[in-house]
Amino acid sequence: MTITIHDCKLIELPRKYDRRGSLTPISNHQEIPFDIIRTYYLYDVPGGESRGGHAHRELQQLMVSVMGAFDVILDDGQEKKIVRLDRAYFGLYIPKLIWRELVNFSSGANCLVLASMPYDEMEYIRSYDEFQMLKRD
Ligand code: TYD
Repeated sequence: MTITIHDCKLIELPRKYDRRGSLTPISNHQEIPFDIIRTYYLYDVPGGESRGGHAHRELQQLMVSVMGAFDVILDDGQEKKIVRLDRAYFGLYIPKLIWRELVNFSSGANCLVLASMPYDEMEYIRSYDEFQMLKRD
């Protein structure tokens, strides 16, 4: 079955808040549909810079703006949509084979990424032409 941008989901995460502030827990297969094997975060992104600009052959991810805001442009080769992440209690689930670009970072933005696999450069699709070819198959 073809994976489309409609398989990307904004997931409302639990938010435990009291007078001391807020806390958001995320557990494998509870809030998200995969096992977390790796986490990384993007920060100190200079104004006007973009990140991403690739797709993954197998990797699934959840992206959370834990601080500040940015836009995620999602593209399945046919359709595009832009999701703005600006709350620490919303995560964007991105399945495999979705081209994504992260743009419009606010100053001080921090993007937390939870990933379903170890880092493997071979698993990236960094050519948009190759991505389109794979999506056409
Ligand atoms: P890159 O995939 O270009 O970042 P982004 O997609 O967020 O713009 O990765 C930047 C560098 O970091 C590149 O040299 C690969 C390295 N990297 C790791 O070593 N481990 C990781 O888990 C990730 C995501 C990247």
